[in-house]
Amino acid sequence: MSTQSPYAPLEPSRPTEPAATPANSPTSSFTWKRPHLLGLEELSPEEILHIFTMAESFQEVSTRSIKKVPALRGRVVVNLFFEESTRTRMSFSLAAQRLSADVLEFAAGKSSVSKGESLRDTVRNIEAMGVDTFVIRHMAAGAPHYITRCTNCNVVNAGDGQHEHPTQGLIDIFTIRERKGRIEGLNVVIVGDIGHSRVARSNIWGLTKLGAKVTLVGPTTLVPRTFEQMGARVGHDLDAALKEADVVNMLRIQRERMTSQVFPSTEEYIRLFGLTRRRLQTTKPDLLIMHPGPVNRGVELASDVADGPNSSILRQVSNGLAIRMAVLFLVNQAGSPAGEGVTA
Ligand code: CP
Repeated sequence: MSTQSPYAPLEPSRPTEPAATPANSPTSSFTWKRPHLLGLEELSPEEILHIFTMAESFQEVSTRSIKKVPALRGRVVVNLFFEESTRTRMSFSLAAQRLSADVLEFAAGKSSVSKGESLRDTVRNIEAMGVDTFVIRHMAAGAPHYITRCTNCNVVNAGDGQHEHPTQGLIDIFTIRERKGRIEGLNVVIVGDIGHSRVARSNIWGLTKLGAKVTLVGPTTLVPRTFEQMGARVGHDLDAALKEADVVNMLRIQRERMTSQVFPSTEEYIRLFGLTRRRLQTTKPDLLIMHPGPVNRGVELASDVADGPNSSILRQVSNGLAIRMAVLFLVNQAGSPAGEGVTA
């Protein structure tokens, strides 16, 4: 396994490029030990901050003329997606390629799953080809956890049912910290379909661990009071919540996960919970507006707000690459449950 620094370029840097020794190099005293990333619920604040430190270092790689480092050269990452995705799949794929890993793309609809092959058999057959890391998105909560019991590979959760989407949570919190300079003490409002949202759950776990005050806002049918047990406040008046907000994270209505009518009409939803330019008149002028994507323009976010100066939507996507490079590198560095890891 490579003993080269994960930040070293594949080829010598041009003289004008910065030195390949970031300030946050893995010489710090913290040692990452997890071979899997399954959720933010189980991470400590130190682990979250360590991922951020690593991601900051990897951000520099994307500014180079040759956007590649040899950190995972010779290793194989499998994108095992059982649900649709644009951002997460492409971002994990590009992140793995920037780390010089080989990438296998699995799409359930074009696989032998349609012939009845089980998740366990699918994973074990792909593992038999000599792969190292599974990045899994699945409609069933707990599918990534189950896979850790079927394989000796590293497993990264790319979204499991309504449970967690840990890398999206990390991206959102990393972007907030980048824009606001801190997390502790910030008022973060998450709006919309909280009940069906794995993004909301990962955000709540991560933000509260790092000291933010989280308020959830939406219709009572989509924001049950049970979320208070996670340390968040629950409200149903968006204008009241926005008055004190430093950050607002707007979530999509997930009609594909709904089994009943949860609000009377889209028009009423927009009136009560849509973020419009008019609504922004009573907020802090530097309110950070976020959305994990995909955006339903004109529903949860007015188009001019989504594209406005306070929006960080595309910055979240850009940061996703560095966060996923960091996560792929760290789980491989920790080693597989039965094997050797990469060295820093
Ligand atoms: N935010 C997010 O998970 O987007 P995709 O579904 O496109 O991956």
